[in-house]
Amino acid sequence: MAKVLIAYSTTDGHTRTICDRLKGIVEAQDHAVDVAWLTEQPDIDLTVFDKVVVGASIRYGKHQPQVFDFIRKNQTQLDSKPNAFFSVNVVARKPEKNTPDTNPYLQKFLQKIDWQPQNLAVFAGRLDYPTYSYFDRQMIRLIMWMTKGPTAPDTVVEFTDWNKVDEFGRTIAAM
Ligand SMILES: Cc1cc2nc3c(=O)[nH]c(=O)nc-3n(C[C@H](O)[C@H](O)[C@H](O)COP(=O)(O)O)c2cc1C
Repeated sequence: MAKVLIAYSTTDGHTRTICDRLKGIVEAQDHAVDVAWLTEQPDIDLTVFDKVVVGASIRYGKHQPQVFDFIRKNQTQLDSKPNAFFSVNVVARKPEKNTPDTNPYLQKFLQKIDWQPQNLAVFAGRLDYPTYSYFDRQMIRLIMWMTKGPTAPDTVVEFTDWNKVDEFGRTIAAM
């Protein structure tokens, strides 16, 4: 039995939902999983874990700075264990942008860090217009209009392919 850490950043909570799903899959393979929100636990000690997974969502084209801080601070520990990274964004709803090789945010992310994650995934996220501030709602509707996505102001849509999440969970369990 391995002790697995899934550390994540989120703004609206969907990345946490994905982490919880991964936790269920990995625990079903008889491993122990801790899920840690980097906002609450930026200094979590990696030495006690056998495998580490980092997950982060995109907002206005960027992964949160706390993810970069965490990776920089823990690069040696990350490199010393089986590890993985996943990104959550709505561009990944498009079939031509939904793999680690074709998702522009994941590619940009890899260029910005020295860590080379051994396993990668990208998941399409969720939109919940009614819960956003007026400014955020207008901005994301504009982005959706430009990229041919849903623009109705009452849109709540989950693009996430949960089978793909489950498959990544099995990869984590086996890595
Ligand atoms: C204000 C705002 C800006 C966003 N900007 C982008 C973006 O630039 N590119 C993208 O692919 N997704 C963008 N998204 C979509 C988020 O990545 C998606 O909603 C994701 O599920 C959020 O994950 P979280 O709930 O863990 O923060 C944006 C969402 C919001 C609300």
